[in-house]
Amino acid sequence: MSSARGTGNGGRSPVVDTVVGTRPQFVKAAMVSRTFEERGVDERLIHTGQHYDRELDAVFFEDLDLSDPAVNLGVGSAPPSRQTGAMMEALERYLDERPEPADVLLVYGDTNSTLAAAIVAAQHQIPLVHVEAGLRAYDRSMPEEVNRVVTDRLSSLLCAPTPAAVENLEQEGIREGVVRTGDVMRDAVRHYGDRSLVRELARKAAPRDSEEFVLATIHRPANTDDPARMRAILEGFARLDRPVLMPAHPRTREALGPLTVPANVLVRSPVRYLTMLGLIGLARAVCTDSGGVQREAYWLGVPCVTVRATTEWTETLRGGWNRLVDADPDRIVHALERTPETESPEPFGAPPGGERASVCVVEAVRQILDR
Ligand code: UD1
Repeated sequence: MSSARGTGNGGRSPVVDTVVGTRPQFVKAAMVSRTFEERGVDERLIHTGQHYDRELDAVFFEDLDLSDPAVNLGVGSAPPSRQTGAMMEALERYLDERPEPADVLLVYGDTNSTLAAAIVAAQHQIPLVHVEAGLRAYDRSMPEEVNRVVTDRLSSLLCAPTPAAVENLEQEGIREGVVRTGDVMRDAVRHYGDRSLVRELARKAAPRDSEEFVLATIHRPANTDDPARMRAILEGFARLDRPVLMPAHPRTREALGPLTVPANVLVRSPVRYLTMLGLIGLARAVCTDSGGVQREAYWLGVPCVTVRATTEWTETLRGGWNRLVDADPDRIVHALERTPETESPEPFGAPPGGERASVCVVEAVRQILDR
């Protein structure tokens, strides 16, 4: 990998360009952007436009008090390589047309927006910062895994959320530029999680006549694009004697169209971040294939069942607080009915010696900018 490099910008005030594009990235950016501002670091937010529906995009900016992006590249949906290519082209044009070059380019997580920005940064020799570096599910059939591996290889500063992430990088021979920062999504849960508004939004969105419901989010193509898997998941839900509240990503809704949705499965539009946090807190259990929801459930002390063969968040498996299951009705029902083995989940994702992971990230970025 490349070593951490300075910006050499000839004395002007350095600027961080942050590339985001999807809902979980807006959540992470909200925490880190606020910290950049607190610490007097100039940041420009570049939105690729990967998520563009109001409920996946604008409502997140509103809920999170995240400033409007400096630009929206408006790329939108397409098959993965075309989408990534279009983002690269649009980002390159934007960077070329700007009078000031970027000093550092910062990306989050593992989406196609992350990958596109990482490649453009490498091609333009802009130091790349990867927040959520070192996560591995060891499953290259997941597009996110490929995006992570490539992004880590190209990064100058790798902000690893956990000791396991640092170890994964070490095993790949990546040591230089690695900083353990803690998980910025944990910051977000702590920052927004216990607001009265969160509880109120959740009470309004929760199923009316039931105290005990399962909250389900299924959106990965590996599940949604395989009708047999979707049918099996729905069959598992149908066997539960409680409602299953299912805020559905647009692709999930499309996948459900030709299928018979059981009466106890309440399919809803995607919910706002604050509502989602509140609903996780209220739910008896969560069933998901999302990386973010797995750890939000864990930190909020709610048992989770993940419909995937692997997870990059292995810490959540401790004490049975998260269980991996295949799309098999029996296994889904069995896992959702089991209780965890420990009274409460063992904490993870905290920054070393600090309160906020976002502070560790910003301080590490400043070290690059000051060089
Ligand atoms: C992306 C990320 C995933 C992340 C998720 C969060 C990749 C490879 N995947 O998946 O890791 O967990 O975001 O939600 O980057 N669509 C809309 N409206 C939108 C956006 C998408 O209708 O605003 C539909 C389109 O039909 C599109 C499909 O969703 O084809 C998939 O969109 P895509 O850009 O692949 O992202 P996600 O599946 O949301």
